[in-house]
Amino acid sequence: MNADPAVYAGPTALLSAEGQELLARIAAAGEKPGGLALGARLRREYPAALVAAAQAQHELRLAARAKFGRAMEMLFTRDGLEQASSEMIARHRARRFGGAGRTADLCCGIGGDLTALAAGREVLAVDRYEVHARLAVHNAGVYGAGAWVRACVADVRDVRLGGLDAVFADPARRTAGNRETGNRETGPRETGPRRFRAGLTEPPMDWCLALTGQAPAVGIKAAPGLPLNIVPAGWEAEFIADGRDLKEAMLWSPALATAARRATILPAGDTLVPEPGPDVPVGAPGEYLLDPNPAVTRAGLVAELARRLGARQIDPMIAFLATDRETRTPFARTLRVLESAPWNEKHFARRLRELGIGAADLRRRGLAGDVDRIRRRLKLAGPNRATVVLTRVSGKPWGLICTDP
Ligand SMILES: C[S@@+](CC[C@H](N)C(=O)[O-])C[C@H]1O[C@@H](n2cnc3c(N)ncnc32)[C@H](O)[C@@H]1O
Repeated sequence: MNADPAVYAGPTALLSAEGQELLARIAAAGEKPGGLALGARLRREYPAALVAAAQAQHELRLAARAKFGRAMEMLFTRDGLEQASSEMIARHRARRFGGAGRTADLCCGIGGDLTALAAGREVLAVDRYEVHARLAVHNAGVYGAGAWVRACVADVRDVRLGGLDAVFADPARRTAGNRETGNRETGPRETGPRRFRAGLTEPPMDWCLALTGQAPAVGIKAAPGLPLNIVPAGWEAEFIADGRDLKEAMLWSPALATAARRATILPAGDTLVPEPGPDVPVGAPGEYLLDPNPAVTRAGLVAELARRLGARQIDPMIAFLATDRETRTPFARTLRVLESAPWNEKHFARRLRELGIGAADLRRRGLAGDVDRIRRRLKLAGPNRATVVLTRVSGKPWGLICTDP
């Protein structure tokens, strides 16, 4: 990325009246926003660097509609959008801060969380990239919360946090083999490997956990692969899924924790927490197989779900549950079992052909094997669809052919 303003205009250039006008024209043009013809026309009226920035921004806005209802008014950097919390998760999180007044949003990024956190409460938003801090204020304004925000460009470790009721921190996830790069003015570099490693954050998780020394109520966003053994006693680890898509983990300090672990499924906000009870029976698969939501599995709440549903586990080590009656729950996908037998590839290939199954979602859990090779060898053909589960039942390799009920 070239930071010379003669050839490079960053997203903050689009905060100007000229930038906003240009973005509106691109949105109204309704053609391919990066189109050469549109670009050429606009470059006759606006600086080329601003046109390039606006066209790139328009593409980001289109992508951002997956996260934000008001994406077409917001401003983003590519990394900022990628790491931003969606509007739905930001609202859920902000609700959990309850009646907290003055709050800090540390590592505020482009303000995905800020849009909800600052709705009716004073928020100090801190990011070390000036671009992000400025975009965060703009984006909070899009949601009518701009007046509640005071932004600060600094390393969060250098900010004095006295007099706050609550702190929210969303540390940057560091990439494997590529420390976060960039500079204070232009923001993070927008290239490089994006293989985020759970537990590797900037600032480090230990620093974030110690924030309870500065404010009583602390919430920290983390990657969903976060190892549970780093969660201190008395804190809550909440795993949040959007439908079946596990999005993130949240760590809540004792002042905000209401359980040790929690699985939350949005958009409805259904929530499951540990409930002690009798051991869950282990037994053969029945007419229905339940595939728990990944948030339930990550939160270690499969036994709780089984007890709640009166289901049994098909194996003490495997997160599939069995029932004999149709059971609907927001915490698992229900599948109807058409075939259940010890895994034997020839037998299953024959049964799949008899059932006319030409398209199958192969789920492997607790069994080794290359799914793509198995799929090729099964030689699927026919008009029907199924889920083929390769797993273990009481320690034995087992297969199931299932459909949506
Ligand atoms: C995961 S993003 C925040 C996303 C934000 N919650 C949202 O929803 O848009 C992390 C941000 O932390 C910032 N950051 C990383 N280390 C920092 C530090 N030591 N001090 C201040 N900001 C930092 C990065 O610039 C980046 O904008």
